[in-house]
Amino acid sequence: MSEVSNLLEKAYQTNELAKFEIIYLLESITPADREVLYNYALKTKQAYYGDKIYLRGLIEFSNYCRQDCLYCGLRASNAQVKRYRLTPEEILGCCAQGYELGYRTFVLQSGEDLWYTDGMLVALMQEIKKRYPEAAITLSIGERRRETYQSLFMAGADRFLMRHETAAKELYKKLHPTMLFENRRACLSALKDIGYQVGAGFMVGLPGQTSADLAEDLRYLIELRPDMVGIGPFIPHSETPLGIKKGGTAEDTLVMVALARLLIPESLLPATTALGTLHPQGRELALKAGANVLMPIITPTSVRKQYALYENKICGDDQPQDCQYCIERRIQAAGFEVDPGRGDSLQYECKSR
Ligand code: 5AD
Repeated sequence: MSEVSNLLEKAYQTNELAKFEIIYLLESITPADREVLYNYALKTKQAYYGDKIYLRGLIEFSNYCRQDCLYCGLRASNAQVKRYRLTPEEILGCCAQGYELGYRTFVLQSGEDLWYTDGMLVALMQEIKKRYPEAAITLSIGERRRETYQSLFMAGADRFLMRHETAAKELYKKLHPTMLFENRRACLSALKDIGYQVGAGFMVGLPGQTSADLAEDLRYLIELRPDMVGIGPFIPHSETPLGIKKGGTAEDTLVMVALARLLIPESLLPATTALGTLHPQGRELALKAGANVLMPIITPTSVRKQYALYENKICGDDQPQDCQYCIERRIQAAGFEVDPGRGDSLQYECKSR
């Protein structure tokens, strides 16, 4: 048996790998090893979550952003984007449509847009919870004050997604001229502390990212123990400073998804839209490599294309019901089943029991 096979088996049996082992694995893995890895990840997912896939209706409610991340099409310096904001009433309309389509989690995502004051968001959380008490609300609105996170949680928000983007400090600094590495981590810790189910995560294939950096991402996640881990390929956007750089590959992304399943086995792992953009079967492949969440878009078709974090994002012309149909069909074709519930993480289920 090769050293890589031994490491894969160790990860599968013990859910633990040291940083140097992850680096070795990433640098030596062969296509045949990858199949073994995906299989271990699939078995691990089945042991923890069975064959159920959880759905989240994604509402991209504003593409205004005060930050200037080098990779992102919504960065403040990109003057080519036509900016939009949905009103609270329009967001509630999206929830109504999502509820009709069967979704029991609404993800409210936006750029960092302070036009939505704490008060507005609190009122919106309360209204969504009043209308749909059995649904979960996930926020993905970036960095705000701890008190804001606290009041949104009190108002009914259940979960919060904030990718750490990269755990490599120097790389983080280069990519985020308007943000602080320490602050991002402090936000994630605060969110956990307050009681949110937290989603962290990172991009694969960032310019200058090394195997050691990716190993650090996994080690950070092992320490943080988030409820959810979003992993997607970096896809260059021409209106950004990284527009001419190479993007991440589907294979490298799938390897990281599968390793995340082995090393943080109880977490929820989305098959990301970015992976579906890079490869026509990207999300199905992710489901077969340990992922167990899909996020159909319910953003109104009229503004969808303006929420371009990267270019050629899929589903831009679709209606919410198209995404529902397409995603459910893909899940079934891949051999899995849609779970109709809120889909809380196992970590959360254990805590609340
Ligand atoms: N390619 C891939 N993912 C991106 N994101 C932002 N820009 C890009 C890009 N160019 C990801 C970030 C962010 C999430 C909402 O989208 O990881 O956290």
